[in-house]
Amino acid sequence: MAHETVRPASGPLVGECRVGGDKSIAHRALLLGAVAEGTTRIHNFAGGADNRSTIGVLRALGVTIREADGLVEVAGAGWSGLRAPAAALDCGNSGTTMRLGAGLLAGRPFTARLTGDRSLCARPMGRVIEPLRAMGADVGSEAGDGRPPLVVRGGRLHGITYRLPVASAQVKSAILLAGLQAAGETRVIEALPTRDHTERLLPAFGAAVRVEAGALAADGERHAIVAGEARLRGVVLALPGDFSAAAFLLVAALLVPGSDLNVRDVGVNPTRTGLLDVLRAMGAGLEVGDERVEGGEPVGTVRARASALRGLDVPPGQVAALIDEIPILCVAAARAAGTTRITGAAELRLKESDRIAVMAAALRACGVAVEELPDGLVVYGTGGAPLRGGAVASHGDHRIVMAMAVAALVAGAPIVIDDAAAAAVSDPAFFPRLRALAGR
Ligand code: S3P
Repeated sequence: MAHETVRPASGPLVGECRVGGDKSIAHRALLLGAVAEGTTRIHNFAGGADNRSTIGVLRALGVTIREADGLVEVAGAGWSGLRAPAAALDCGNSGTTMRLGAGLLAGRPFTARLTGDRSLCARPMGRVIEPLRAMGADVGSEAGDGRPPLVVRGGRLHGITYRLPVASAQVKSAILLAGLQAAGETRVIEALPTRDHTERLLPAFGAAVRVEAGALAADGERHAIVAGEARLRGVVLALPGDFSAAAFLLVAALLVPGSDLNVRDVGVNPTRTGLLDVLRAMGAGLEVGDERVEGGEPVGTVRARASALRGLDVPPGQVAALIDEIPILCVAAARAAGTTRITGAAELRLKESDRIAVMAAALRACGVAVEELPDGLVVYGTGGAPLRGGAVASHGDHRIVMAMAVAALVAGAPIVIDDAAAAAVSDPAFFPRLRALAGR
């Protein structure tokens, strides 16, 4: 597939910009809209390939969805509006489509087969198979090894109490979506909080959901509870800018000398913004302003100013809130003074690529010393010296492509990134926006 040559920035990143709507929230709004009664309108839709996979799956299930100019209209016809698909449901590269899709289908009275691309078909699904089976669905991996394709024979479900064995918002959300269809309550317990977009969105659709945390949860963990046999109603919603897309621009501004960039109207849900906390502790000039709540989600303007960074230890407890930002955090660490050690992030090996191995190889190709740990990375920062130009293998992973494109802005020579079109999995506007901001 086509590669992209990214040259060092010709000047600072200044001014302000926006990013497309949040991918995680869009998946949830599409799925809930499909089983709600009435139309759901989703504004500020970024149109990434992952979200399009969710749209494709829902259309194959008989749902009418229109999309134009950043607006998506989902004609929900209630739970019974979903029909048995005529062919396998193609989830593309999107783990969220497959895992949340399995939860949605777990209570529907038909059989569906969910498949995806080579990367997705290598990812573990046992984590959703097990709880959905416990709720009464007949879900299995075709090969019997927990990997896709998945076959979901939906049926009558009953609520469960389930403690997540891995910190995963996808698993939590799959169980909550099944729980909406079950008899009785469904309770998901997590030791480390993961992104809570599903819990925040459900009340707008009319579902009864409650969260017990802190003093309310006797065990000190976080419980998300949904009432079963829910009838949902369509909503109108504007997606906040995707923090995970903004993260690449914010780090670019921190690294390119003289930069001062405001990313406006971006989601700053604390379960997503762990990167801000870590970068601030590294010495980054980052501020959140104009903060307000829109559609149940915190939104604000994030300002990033070029800063000298120093390495630090990122402990396991911080990983869930920055799981998708670790590739770009590694790029910041590569330019920092001193060593950055990230641990407790073994989940990274199970993403669109093995992000520990792929990021380590990509940074080494640019002259950075990196050590791979079973559950993380140690990055030896260059102390602000430019990275080396070179060729890096993205393994078709969108977040690796975008992280290395930012690295190229502060390299001494161009970096050539293969499969660069993968950026469109989450952010089709990434390269044009970066070119406009960095003079490339
Ligand atoms: C997501 C949750 C995260 C994240 C993924 C999107 C979601 O995965 O890495 O990009 O939308 O729920 P896990 O919850 O499986 O860690």
